[in-house]
Amino acid sequence: MKTLLHISDLQKELRASLDGNKSIGFVPTMGAIHSGHISLIKRSKQENDITVCSIFVNPIQFNSEVDLTGYPRMIEQDSKALIREEVDFLFAPDVVEMYPPGEETQLDIDFGRLDKVMEGKHRPGHFKGVAIVVNKLFDIVKPSRAYFGSKDFQQLTIIQHMTESLKLPVEIVPCKTIRESDGLAMSSRNLKLTIGERQVASEIYGVLMFTKANADSIPVRKLQVIAQKRLAENRAFQVDYFEIVDKRTLLPINTWNEPEQIIACTAVNIGGIRLIDNMELFS
Ligand code: PAF
Repeated sequence: MKTLLHISDLQKELRASLDGNKSIGFVPTMGAIHSGHISLIKRSKQENDITVCSIFVNPIQFNSEVDLTGYPRMIEQDSKALIREEVDFLFAPDVVEMYPPGEETQLDIDFGRLDKVMEGKHRPGHFKGVAIVVNKLFDIVKPSRAYFGSKDFQQLTIIQHMTESLKLPVEIVPCKTIRESDGLAMSSRNLKLTIGERQVASEIYGVLMFTKANADSIPVRKLQVIAQKRLAENRAFQVDYFEIVDKRTLLPINTWNEPEQIIACTAVNIGGIRLIDNMELFS
């Protein structure tokens, strides 16, 4: 694996590797590589000639300085994991490389309600920051396919929307959420939980499974309230939201009429660590 810190060096390497019409698979990350990331990398390796992974803790998608500075950074350990997976190129730029002073970082896309609901309500500006960096990374790497985990379902929807709106020549490949043995969705943020918090965190998965088991037999709005209450019963949890929404619009639904479009999404704070998860209720 070659590690490149500069855009021009990465592009030089990619040009040299891309004779004929080789495909590039791209896995953008913020590091603290876990089995969820590894599953994206494995898929990219299967489907492409070259796999590029990026590690960049993107400051403009954080809402708080404390969250940004506290985000786990472990580049050496991450590099070893990526070498084991035979990633071809690691792109690990610093903030100045990605956002040179004086350079415009705007992106003119209307996401409609997609970036205003759920996470958008609690993290204003977050998805704009994600869209800007992903668009920039796509422009640098020019991937044939890019791989995103479904745990961040709203992020995935917004990236798909951006790709369609800007007609970007990249296929967005959604990949299924990878879970710990007790059901907790893999996330870099799990590293920040205390042992006690980690033990109760799997209750998020428990409530999603409960919701799935009861979908169709309890009216939607009632089930949503019950699920939210179940989460809130845990004294360690501060529930930001639990919503049952349409996958296309991310807006709350009122009936079980289009089962294949229905997903439950939630965000819970445990000891100041914000965990999100979701589950399709009829798949
Ligand atoms: O999901 C993430 O890790 C980040 O939001 C992403 C897509 C790498 C953009 O910074």
